[in-house]
Amino acid sequence: MTNPTLLILAGDGIGPEVMGQVTRIIDWYGKNRDLAFDVEHDLVGGAAYDKHGTPLHDDTMAKALAADAVLLGAVGGPKYDDLDFSVKPERGLLRLRKEMDLFSNLRPAQCFDALADFSSLKKDIVAGLDIMIVRELTSGVYFGEPRGIFEEGNERVGINTQRYTESEIDRVARSAFELARRRSGKVCSMEKANVMESGILWREVVQKVRDTDYPDIELTHMYADNGAMQLVRAPKQFDVIVTDNLFGDILSDCAAMLTGSLGMLPSASLGAPNPDGRPKALYEPVHGSAPDIAGQGKANPIACILSFAMALRYSFDQGDEATRLENAVEKVLADGARTADLMGPEDGTPISTTEMGDAILAALDASL
Ligand code: IPM
Ligand code: MG
Repeated sequence: MTNPTLLILAGDGIGPEVMGQVTRIIDWYGKNRDLAFDVEHDLVGGAAYDKHGTPLHDDTMAKALAADAVLLGAVGGPKYDDLDFSVKPERGLLRLRKEMDLFSNLRPAQCFDALADFSSLKKDIVAGLDIMIVRELTSGVYFGEPRGIFEEGNERVGINTQRYTESEIDRVARSAFELARRRSGKVCSMEKANVMESGILWREVVQKVRDTDYPDIELTHMYADNGAMQLVRAPKQFDVIVTDNLFGDILSDCAAMLTGSLGMLPSASLGAPNPDGRPKALYEPVHGSAPDIAGQGKANPIACILSFAMALRYSFDQGDEATRLENAVEKVLADGARTADLMGPEDGTPISTTEMGDAILAALDASL
């Protein structure tokens, strides 16, 4: 048997630091759980631009398509702000998503008990929160044509196009319903059917998939602006939320902050299954490259570590091992381990990125 392959693209800013802790955890699984991976590292984003003049080299794209899973850190930074749009670090990430056809982006927002006080909302509103946003990731206004900045008369016009085909809506709806079957069986779909035709079609197709193939699912629809409001008013009313690319971008940041820190939240971007049954997949923390703290050993590696837990669950069918890692994270938080993002100014001295990695590895050891 050959080992499954992982392509690690640590990227920019705090990406390499947080990913450094993930590679220690990958090694731990090889040594202790008979779960070895063949790991390869490559560049993405600004780091790739600095070396190759492009945020994603074709060779890296080919490696990503061939790997069993891709782990990504973060892309971007102020150093690249003035680059031409076509070579901005973010374009590397968007190319990966598009060419791997990762249409279903799972963004869990879970509030750890130990951190409930940390949310900007009242504790009773967020304690025990566990929701999953399924964001469509390869279409919509992020990719629709026509797009660009054009001359029109004596001024310029900026154009992006919101575009969804029935099959694009159908497949992401199915992935949300499948997921809901393993959770509470409840899905809320969000769009703006009151003002957008693409929203009318979205609502229609999602309902049809439910009625035809998922009658056991309790499906509701909500306008996305109301959804944003409900997320901060009473987030526990939701279980699975399915929505388009742009609304999903915004709503998932909103949901993420309910949990207290962006430093805690993982994500999985999944495509259609390969012949071996494994979906094309990329795992990345929801947080960005945090250039203000990059290189200082302050960053919280938990979001990146929990992204690897999602890889164990969704790519490698190792749900028990994913739970082991999630429990280890929960334990170190319950024991009081805190990086700077999880502390107020008067809460004492935070631990470093590496110390958080140490604590999680110790909790993994203790789980054996
Ligand atoms: C995200 C990010 C990306 C997006 C950026 C970095 C291109 O905000 O993953 O949510 O807008 O999709
Ligand atoms: Mg975003």
